Amino acid sequence: MAQLTLMPHESGAHNRRSRSHDSSFPLVAAATGGRPTRRPVWFMRQAGRSLPEYRAIRADHGMLEACFDPAMVCEITLQPVRRHDVDAAILFSDIVVPLRAAGIDLDIVAGTGPVIAHPVRTAADVAVLPRLDPAGVGAIGKAVELILGELADHTALIGFAGAPFTLASYLIEGGPSRTYARTKALMYGDPRTWNVLMGHLADITVTFLRVQLDAGVDAVQLFDSWAGQLSPADYRHYVAPHSARVFAEIAGYGVPRIHFGVGTGELLPAMTEVGPDVIGVDWRVPLDEAVRRVGPGKAVQGNLDPTVLFAGADVIEREVRRVIDDGDRAVAAGATGHIFNLGHGVLPTTDPDTLTRAVDLIHSVDLP
Ligand code: CP3
Repeated sequence: MAQLTLMPHESGAHNRRSRSHDSSFPLVAAATGGRPTRRPVWFMRQAGRSLPEYRAIRADHGMLEACFDPAMVCEITLQPVRRHDVDAAILFSDIVVPLRAAGIDLDIVAGTGPVIAHPVRTAADVAVLPRLDPAGVGAIGKAVELILGELADHTALIGFAGAPFTLASYLIEGGPSRTYARTKALMYGDPRTWNVLMGHLADITVTFLRVQLDAGVDAVQLFDSWAGQLSPADYRHYVAPHSARVFAEIAGYGVPRIHFGVGTGELLPAMTEVGPDVIGVDWRVPLDEAVRRVGPGKAVQGNLDPTVLFAGADVIEREVRRVIDDGDRAVAAGATGHIFNLGHGVLPTTDPDTLTRAVDLIHSVDLP
């Protein structure tokens, strides 16, 4: 009798993905208009330097080395889930991992972030950019399978990628920037080259997300962290078509797609138009006001100011309850659901116990 041999991505991981449409995941339920069993919460940058167990691993291993080692990715991804009982794990990786996998010479420097050896600034630089072969991020697909084998049934695994604009800003600036002057100079000054670059980065992003989705992630977040540097008109003209293509090309997976950027209060309508199911909101705009800006039918995610976690237990409780109340008002105003999060990533010096206590509080408050 012929033996049916399942490829890894066709076995457990696939089953998990098909389960992600039911409401056993509070995060998926909140994202899709179902009724979550509890108020879902996770934190951007929950896997990382606020955790001593993360720093212990990183003491002996470089950041990129860790990102391409499936067992290490699995362990670091699970650390905050074990500690905080959050409703989602976020894959431990970085937005520049697919660029590195494509062969672009870069490093992630502690305290600085991504540094690109040869910044991309001319049409000739753009013309020779490498493509991403899915095999180049095979280690990340493998990591997703390991994580899914360990996660509890109610805990979603969120995959992610950087959006074309934010990736372009690193490639062009060569590292972090305050003004994004070189990025915007290329965008305004040579829109043809800009569009070739953005199209190329959208392809890399789609490939990276598909590897994670094929391996079974339950949701994805597209980080356009620095899009808030742009006016709504420029965002719509120079960025939105490329981000919209990313969302369209992964729509067939049927998993919730989250979109987030910092300082994007004015961009919330435009960032919603590109097609996510969930819109991430930073701490500058209350969640109920965010719904007025994006309209009904989308879930909202956010938006506790990460610095509140340094202000003491009383302030943390007051602010967590305020965000919960804003979230409930957002749902009453037509949002599909509310996923509790910070307004940006966990700061490295955060006492992780404050996060654990915040999760307990969030889970203890009844849903409306
Ligand atoms: O827990 C998680 O959220 C998952 C892991 C994660 C990392 N980077 C790990 C990381 C995620 C989702 C990212 C995404 C990322 N990377 C973004 C988008 C999210 C955002 O913050 O807006 C951006 C802009 C980057 C680029 C980047 N990589 C920055 C700005 C930095 C921080 C620089 C610093 O050291 O302060 C990194 C490095 C990085 N990425 C670290 C971690 C845990 C720190 C590296 C270390 O431990 O030495």
